[in-house]
Amino acid sequence: MGNGIAQVAARAGFDVVMRDVADTFLARGMKAIDKSLQRDVDKERLGAAEKQSIIGRIRTTTELADLRDAFIIVEAVTEDLRVKSELFKTLDEATNLDAMLASNTSSISITKLAAVTKRPDQVIGMHFMNPVPVMKLVEIIRGAATSDETYQKVHALTEKLGKIPLECQDSPGFISNRVLMPMINEAIFALYEGVASRESIDGIMKLGMNHPMGPLTLADFIGLDVCLAIMNVLHDGFNDSKYRPCPLLKRYVDAGWLGRKSGRGFYEY
Ligand code: 3HC
Repeated sequence: MGNGIAQVAARAGFDVVMRDVADTFLARGMKAIDKSLQRDVDKERLGAAEKQSIIGRIRTTTELADLRDAFIIVEAVTEDLRVKSELFKTLDEATNLDAMLASNTSSISITKLAAVTKRPDQVIGMHFMNPVPVMKLVEIIRGAATSDETYQKVHALTEKLGKIPLECQDSPGFISNRVLMPMINEAIFALYEGVASRESIDGIMKLGMNHPMGPLTLADFIGLDVCLAIMNVLHDGFNDSKYRPCPLLKRYVDAGWLGRKSGRGFYEY
């Protein structure tokens, strides 16, 4: 998600610093950006020189200190409250006091992340969808303390990125994953109970509902660990058993079958 966000921002003309914990991850991110932009060059929607200038606007680093002068930082680390809270604390100390801190979290409370900083009014959710260069939506989540000024700035920025901002209050799973993830979880239950094969489940939803991907294919695309983390947030947040994650989803994650990124999920890649 991080490299997709960097690509979209650089394509919109912004200078971007892409930070990760190791050079290998940064190299992988730049390779993904190159491949994604090359699709548009091949389709003659982007010139080769313009592609190079977009790439030239992205500087990579492993140092948080290199984010000091950014006007906004968009965090896209693993979907874990503890990891994100630690990072927000560090970012609060490492960055310019005027900077806005945005999280690309899929479901974690923006209010909680904001509360570990000294600038909760400048903390907001910018939830991009995968694949970032293609999907039009950015779900904008206001935490309890997010100021109107921060919201307006992020709304305008999202439009500059060529995306459509839609607003949502801070509630478990926001709107996107509160609606999407129980559908995916239900498809996994149907597979678990032997109601239909993976191909039937996906085919029924693709052909019958006109979804671009069946729910099991989509789960593999999102990452099964991410799907499980989101179900846990819904389950804990609402205290409602209707959000219990399917045991088959838990078992796959335990086995390290995380979907496309690990080479195996509900399908083999
Ligand atoms: N970068 C740039 N362009 C890409 C791309 C990428 N990574 N992946 C696909 N594309 C472009 C292709 O170039 C093509 O463009 P064109 O039609 O203008 O020529 C277009 O997208 C369609 O791609 P393909 O023909 O290769 O393949 P599909 O038609 O199967 O589309 C898909 C691929 C866009 C991924 C489509 O299957 C889809 O929309 N799937 C559902 C995605 C979805 O639901 N995303 C949300 C997930 S939930 C989420 O992110 C939230 C999180 O919190 C969990």
